[in-house]
Amino acid sequence: MNLNKSKVSWKSPSNIALIKYWGKYNNQIPMNPSISFTLDKCSTITSVKFEKSNEFSYNFFFENKSKPEFIPKLDVFFSRINEHLPSLSKLKLTINSSNSFPHSSGIASSASAFSSLALCLTEIESMFSDLIDNENFFEKASFISRLGSGSASRSVYGPLSCWGETELYEQSSDEYAIPIKISNHEFPVFCDTILIVDSGPKKVSSTIGHKLMDDHIFKKERISQSHLNFSKLKKSIDSNDLDSFIEVVENEALTLHALMMTSNPNFILFKPNTINIINLVVKFREETGTKVCFTLDAGANVHLLYPKNSFEKVQEFIKKSLAQFCHDGEYINDQIGLGPQKN
Ligand code: PMV
Repeated sequence: MNLNKSKVSWKSPSNIALIKYWGKYNNQIPMNPSISFTLDKCSTITSVKFEKSNEFSYNFFFENKSKPEFIPKLDVFFSRINEHLPSLSKLKLTINSSNSFPHSSGIASSASAFSSLALCLTEIESMFSDLIDNENFFEKASFISRLGSGSASRSVYGPLSCWGETELYEQSSDEYAIPIKISNHEFPVFCDTILIVDSGPKKVSSTIGHKLMDDHIFKKERISQSHLNFSKLKKSIDSNDLDSFIEVVENEALTLHALMMTSNPNFILFKPNTINIINLVVKFREETGTKVCFTLDAGANVHLLYPKNSFEKVQEFIKKSLAQFCHDGEYINDQIGLGPQKN
């Protein structure tokens, strides 16, 4: 027990799913397994000060300002985690978070936000309890992150992270993510350039989005497709087959949006410029042979994934052809990273 310290702080990255998590059962259990690249620069830094108290309470600040709109989500999170982090019941917490990416960029920040907070809370618990040690620290932090936002469970590991049971990885679990090593050393380091098509808030919260899968007409098919795509993706990484990697990644992105378009109620989250960008990316790949592909979150922004050795070529293409379709010409250059860092 180390109680000399009364403040902890973690920087945790966002991630971009290659196989998308879409649909969940009770208690944040995913309908299908997912796998993501962990990002490097796009991250959240959270610090938590704690002091002894008769009962649990917390204050939350975002970039040093109080943010009442975040409280309902945080209340739900704390009600889910209190039985798993019992030491919190006698602490008063002061939480402060800040993002490395612009607030107006429309980038989903729940993965970096919840994973950085979960890492802080898991570290605090480990100071009071011997049930958390170096061996299980990240597994526990991933479990706690999941109870805030499913995709956040994957952010505690880099460069690849898998959440949800799949026969491809024996250790995989619906309750927490596991790190995936890229054993094939030929497989390139990937860059991710996020093209900001729409900087506004999300039109559909992911809570509502996941719910649409409960009675979705293609629910069964989607679950089997995700397993099939997962196995194709693993094979493509293991054998360094970038064409097949691209095929699966783009299929997953379009499937996510197709599922939303065929939900009841339905949502169209593409913007005309999302389509303009996608068409140009495919054309550029066909014409130049550059191994670049697109993927999407539940929004209009486009993530461009490409090997680092094509950085200059792709940057030239972005400036010349794609930036005109971005909101205020804005895009963020990131790359695949190694996971969270303790401050
Ligand atoms: O973690 P949530 O509940 O915000 O869901 C994320 C869902 C997607 O970003 C669309 C896909 C994914 O796997 O990250």
